[in-house]
Amino acid sequence: MKYSRVKKLRGELTVPGDKSISHRAVMLGALAEGTTEVTNFLLGADCLSTIECFRKLGISVELLENTVRIHGKGLHGLSKPTSELDTGNSGTTTRLISGILAGQKFETFLNGDASIQTRPMKRIIEPLTQMGAQITSIRDNGCAPLHITGKSLHGIHYLSPVASAQVKSSILLAGLYADGPTSVTEPYLSRNHSEIMLRYFGADARSEGTHASVSPNPRLTGQHVHVPGDISSAAYFLAAGLMVPDSEILIKNVGINPTRDGILRVFREMGGSITLLNKRQSSGEPTADLLVKTSRLHGITVSGSIIPTLIDEVPILAVLACFAEGATVIKDAQELKVKESNRIDVMVKNLSAMGAHIRATADGMIIEGGHTLHGAQVDSCLDHRIAMSFAVAALVSEGETEILGADCVKISYPGFYTDLKQIICS
Ligand code: S3P
Repeated sequence: MKYSRVKKLRGELTVPGDKSISHRAVMLGALAEGTTEVTNFLLGADCLSTIECFRKLGISVELLENTVRIHGKGLHGLSKPTSELDTGNSGTTTRLISGILAGQKFETFLNGDASIQTRPMKRIIEPLTQMGAQITSIRDNGCAPLHITGKSLHGIHYLSPVASAQVKSSILLAGLYADGPTSVTEPYLSRNHSEIMLRYFGADARSEGTHASVSPNPRLTGQHVHVPGDISSAAYFLAAGLMVPDSEILIKNVGINPTRDGILRVFREMGGSITLLNKRQSSGEPTADLLVKTSRLHGITVSGSIIPTLIDEVPILAVLACFAEGATVIKDAQELKVKESNRIDVMVKNLSAMGAHIRATADGMIIEGGHTLHGAQVDSCLDHRIAMSFAVAALVSEGETEILGADCVKISYPGFYTDLKQIICS
């Protein structure tokens, strides 16, 4: 895929459904009694991996365009799969489903693609083992493939060393099968979609600050879930709209949950003009339309509790920082090293190739903005967020940028290049 500088961006678009919420709707739909209908479901490869896993666990899932109907069988209705579960490229599927599988009366084998096989699973193996599950990393390297033998679980209180919604959710989902309450305290609050959706389906799930808890053995009931647009996908258009001269874009129906909206706060603090219109609720999740206009930007420091609320947006933030006056410092973001790729190294390498003044630090990066970027050949490393970040970088760089492995956007945003083309005025 090749991209180069554009004159302006104009128009209106809707980004696809939120990835995190789409995964959770399938999972809770499967564990609920009755039918769950999910509208505006994200038809990305990651969420399709979740559907396939639940089909193998005996759940019937109908897929009609971007509406999904899940015929739930209740908390104890899953059945032993006849083959290994394939979680593809999806960390969310792997970690959340492990929590559910930990409480089943059967054993499961779980594996994913080459990237998943390098991502840390000890972070869920440890707490789930404390709850009584038996989980082995088959290659004994703390990664998938995993062998999970479900057991009767005990409720625990877990003090998580990382602010990770995947870890928190894995434990809370296992907590549904425990003999007493289960709770998790995180260093900073991570996305809370599991807690919201557990309540929406009828569970006794509570959250207070960085503490979340769930009572065992709830009766979950099938629901209609309307998935808001994914703010992580909207972030590429927000950044493009802020950087490309003379631009104005309206992005409709975007989830603005405060545990996910850090990128809005940071872009605005950098001087970005982003207006929230038509605020409303969608299945318990706050939603709005976002109007973005070209802005003069300046660098800032981004660190601490805001990091988990924009963790997937750091690659596009790094691109935007190249166009901001002064330095942008990103700290406390060491989690980026264990995403679909090492996002600190990959961003620094690719942006440097385009002429950016950027360097990696132990827990983030420092970007000196205000230097013109030029096109280059960049490797996505098969990481969807890297590919989309460089498609945007190319729009404001001199010459042509070639993105290797550009197809990987299918993980979270299959129509990304088509939607981008629609708003380009050249
Ligand atoms: C996700 C949580 C985040 C995020 C990922 C999706 C989720 O990971 O990076 O894309 O759906 O819970 P961590 O919770 O591990 O930081």
